[in-house]
Amino acid sequence: MSDAQKDFRDLLHAQRVWDVPLPRFDPSSAPAAPLPLFHAWFAEAVAAGQTEPHTMTLATADTEGRPDVRTLVLHDADERGWHFATHATSAKGRQLAARPYAALGFYWPAQGRQVRVRGAAVPAGREESRADLHARSTGALAAALTGSQSEVLGSQEELVRASEAAWDRARAEPDAEAETWTRYVVEPREVEFFQGDGRRRHVRLRYRRDGAAWTRELLWP
Ligand SMILES: Cc1cc2nc3c(=O)[nH]c(=O)nc-3n(C[C@H](O)[C@H](O)[C@H](O)COP(=O)(O)O)c2cc1C
Repeated sequence: MSDAQKDFRDLLHAQRVWDVPLPRFDPSSAPAAPLPLFHAWFAEAVAAGQTEPHTMTLATADTEGRPDVRTLVLHDADERGWHFATHATSAKGRQLAARPYAALGFYWPAQGRQVRVRGAAVPAGREESRADLHARSTGALAAALTGSQSEVLGSQEELVRASEAAWDRARAEPDAEAETWTRYVVEPREVEFFQGDGRRRHVRLRYRRDGAAWTRELLWP
């Protein structure tokens, strides 16, 4: 084994999980639907000082059914579902056009908590996607206007040129359109709340949609 490999393994194996005081989660007191619990856990993650609690992993599958994954920002969570936005022409956008199902993962290590969401990913209408684009910062608009997401980039210089032009346009034209920018809503079929426990007696509570209602069940950790 090379020294670099050994250093990596030593470092890796020195890392810990569930090594901080963790909150208790009593699933018998959980609400009948997952959304209020998600809102409560999100507020608790912010209060616990969790960095970037609004970032999440989005999993999609390509046309062959092969999974893909990346990090995104959560734009809302309401009765319709969990919202994010991206370019419909990106790799994930094309995957979702072919297979409109997604999974989301939140990990809040400050409290040893994980939330998983699975369901159909439905593009919101043009108006909602436009409003999403213009509700955020100039930088976010400039990033969206830069475009070509997931295409092969010839050089860093090319990106700098396109980005500078996009920033100029975003400053001059705050209502500029990025036609491919699309808000998606993941309509939940299943939502799982995981509370880590130092003795590894983790609590897993899964909500499964059952018509208009939700079934709640515990899962072995
Ligand atoms: C913290 C963080 C937040 C991100 N938020 C978004 C986002 O909201 N929308 C987006 O399109 N890409 C976002 N990205 C970039 C994506 O992870 C990804 O690189 C990009 O969307 C291209 O993914 P794709 O090639 O699978 O389509 C974010 C990346 C990080 C690290």
